[in-house]
Amino acid sequence: MIPGARLILLGRQGAGKGTQCVRLSRHFVVPHISTGDMLRAAVREGTELGVMAKRVMDEGGLVGDEIMVGLVRERLSQPDAVGRGYILDGFPRTVGQAEALDIINSERPIDVVIDLDVPRELVLQRITARRVCRDCGTNYVATGNEHMPWICEVCGGDVMQRDDDTTEAIAHRLDLYEEQTSPLIEFYQRDGRLAIVDGVASPDEVFRRLTAAVEASRRPA
Ligand code: AP5
Repeated sequence: MIPGARLILLGRQGAGKGTQCVRLSRHFVVPHISTGDMLRAAVREGTELGVMAKRVMDEGGLVGDEIMVGLVRERLSQPDAVGRGYILDGFPRTVGQAEALDIINSERPIDVVIDLDVPRELVLQRITARRVCRDCGTNYVATGNEHMPWICEVCGGDVMQRDDDTTEAIAHRLDLYEEQTSPLIEFYQRDGRLAIVDGVASPDEVFRRLTAAVEASRRPA
């Protein structure tokens, strides 16, 4: 990929965005900017933003556009994002955020937006089985045969269920996706920036499909 590329990965909660963004960011050597990770860091640090965000996240709601746009604007102005490009994970999530991003990026527009398409029934299964390391955020899939306490093999932290992975919060997050985030598919389709990748396959196969979609978007027409 040409240095400086800017990519957005869209998709339902649990589609595998976080998992794939980590791999894409290593593969293309661009920063992975996850608004969910930024908010979880604020929660861990106990900042004013973190206290407010925890309440919203635990209920499966969305943090207000103004706050999220401010956070992302600041992050995108950092030298690594300006120089090397980035992969955005979890932003934009509303048409308002997408419009604000186009203004922030007016001099360096997004190159490609990928919708990682996984149906609701399957993401529900994936999120229910998801466990994460509290310290480094590595994802695991619970099978029921794990030794407790479950220790992260990457950093030795505790592996737990996310506070917002309760049945009620998941259902609310998925409803909000249909209402507020899915209109972004049409938003980006209108100006030809959208690629749709089928996310129902093994993580390795989905990664292969995603890298192919990014490479195709970089080829001259
Ligand atoms: P965020 O952290 O972005 O959470 P999310 O959107 O709910 O996304 P997830 O992390 O649940 O899913 P994912 O697609 O990354 O899937 P994953 O790779 O983990 O946001 C959290 C909260 O912050 C929001 O609810 C909101 O409150 C707030 N927030 C964040 N951004 C915001 C914004 N812009 N505006 C307003 N509020 C905002 O995969 C899921 C599971 O499936 C894992 O266990 C994984 O191992 C497994 N898996 C992955 N790929 C595969 C595969 N191919 N096959 C089988 N299993 C797989």
